[in-house]
Amino acid sequence: MTDILTSLAPLADRINQTLADLIARDSAVVARIGGYSFQGGGKRLRPLVFCLVAAALGLETTPAVMTTGAAFEFLHQASLLHDDIIDLAEVRRGRAAAHLAFGVPETVLAGDYLLAKASRLVAELDNPACLRILARLAGTMALGELAQLGARRQVDIGAAEYFRIIYRKTAVLLEGAAKCAALLAGAGAAAIAAAGRYGRKLGLAFQIADDLLDYQGDEASLGKPVGHDLEEGKITLPFILAREALPPARRERLRRLAGPAAGPLGPEARLEIHALVAEGQGLASARRKAEDLAARAAQALALWPPSPAREQLAGLAGYVTARSC
Ligand code: IPE
Ligand code: IPE
Ligand code: MG
Ligand code: MG
Repeated sequence: MTDILTSLAPLADRINQTLADLIARDSAVVARIGGYSFQGGGKRLRPLVFCLVAAALGLETTPAVMTTGAAFEFLHQASLLHDDIIDLAEVRRGRAAAHLAFGVPETVLAGDYLLAKASRLVAELDNPACLRILARLAGTMALGELAQLGARRQVDIGAAEYFRIIYRKTAVLLEGAAKCAALLAGAGAAAIAAAGRYGRKLGLAFQIADDLLDYQGDEASLGKPVGHDLEEGKITLPFILAREALPPARRERLRRLAGPAAGPLGPEARLEIHALVAEGQGLASARRKAEDLAARAAQALALWPPSPAREQLAGLAGYVTARSC
């Protein structure tokens, strides 16, 4: 796992340099907010996927290609700025969330600006198919966050609805980044579809892992608090799978503890929910699901010609479910 990060470090450095150059060109106020969020850390997963798909399909990672990859990070960054306002989250990437450091209105507008900036960077490619992908996925992400708001404290939400939400809020961006890279590489229809499949399954696995880390992670390495999802009424896969597996009386207890009638969650209720989720094997079952999706992400690339970049994409799929941050 550390091997894949080590092997990607030179590419990640180039991505960071590209991001820093692009942020430096922004107006002062956006550069301040964007730079703050950027310097806090972050894995740069979206531009890494973009650059690796491009390379695997024969497109050299020129500065122009790196810039397009950066657009997907800016869109991600915009979504995080807005997400922390929506989720009332106070810490991100190990520091105070931007809305606490700069104010909610400023952070909303910086997010809007970064979304527009991502669109502009992709529009400059003069590739209508890529622009269409970006325009659609930005709307889909907002719909995913809206659907998630509507599902707050819905303790009976099913796995299918959960997957619809996480596809829209998270996986669609990785799917779009991968497809856009394949399009720019001039790949054929089958190779483009495989890129999309890889990004989609990687994104689903990635979000399940994020939701598992909210149950099992460590705040110091994660750079954001754990246990926040339940507090916000977010019912995620470990809960859903445990609920389905528990015997009726225990299931009822779990539903009642997390449901709308329970009021704000105290530490005792949270501990009991965690115990019930573990009792119903929710964590282990969700982990298996994430690992299965990650394996299928890697399998989606089997038709591409072998290359170091293809191996690195497969390595990334393994990494997203094993990560601790
Ligand atoms: C966090 O994304 C939001 C989710 C989609 C789960 P990342 O975990 O990729 O955040 P950074 O960019 O590495 O900080
Ligand atoms: C990801 O969901 C949100 C986005 C796609 C922006 P989360 O709300 O779980 O992400 P974190 O945990 O705050 O990073
Ligand atoms: Mg959040
Ligand atoms: Mg989360």
